[in-house]
Amino acid sequence: MKFFIDTANIDEIKEAHSMGMVDGVTTNPTLIAREGRNFEEIITDICEIVDGPISAEVIGLKTEEMVTEARVLAAIHKNIVIKIPMTVDGLKAARILTDEGIKTNVTLVFSPLQALMAAKAGATYVSPFVGRLDDLSQDGLLLVEQIVEIYNNYAYDTEIIVASVRNPLHILESAMMGADIATIPFDVLGKLAAHPMTDKGLKAFLKDWEKRKK
Ligand code: E4P
Repeated sequence: MKFFIDTANIDEIKEAHSMGMVDGVTTNPTLIAREGRNFEEIITDICEIVDGPISAEVIGLKTEEMVTEARVLAAIHKNIVIKIPMTVDGLKAARILTDEGIKTNVTLVFSPLQALMAAKAGATYVSPFVGRLDDLSQDGLLLVEQIVEIYNNYAYDTEIIVASVRNPLHILESAMMGADIATIPFDVLGKLAAHPMTDKGLKAFLKDWEKRKK
């Protein structure tokens, strides 16, 4: 399973990258706005740290606006993936960009049929939002399971990025289903590595080591 980091914060990206855990990066307008810096500058900085797919989201709602923005963003670096909202205009934009050889990530996906349409539009990636469905008392991971099955049934090349990840179980279950990628917030990445028995065991080893006969 590939791990993307779901942040626009350069310090977090550098730290996760130094752990060898970053295969790519996803951003969205909220994450970019949180940094209080120029959008293109942030994306350029990320591309200098991570050699993998970097998702940058368009703001326009009309197909023509999305395509125009996408071409500018795609020119920043060969690794840029254009994040497009799952709307009819977004699907049209995904088809145009795919035909131009620009990679796309169809985002804000909340149903398996939206994911099927994204694949038919030629999207490189699709991003189902598991956490936001869980927030509505719906089963976010069931959505991932359904998309995996549909894509396998028809051998679509579109890769599934499990997004809106809130906890390690989202990643465990998604990995067991065979989802291609999880995009993980920095704090959740830390939780994956941690286990109280590891800490307890390490403490005991060091205590015994100090007691050894020298
Ligand atoms: C990534 O592609 C998404 O924009 C992100 O995972 C959304 O996460 P959130 O639901 O925690 O905002």
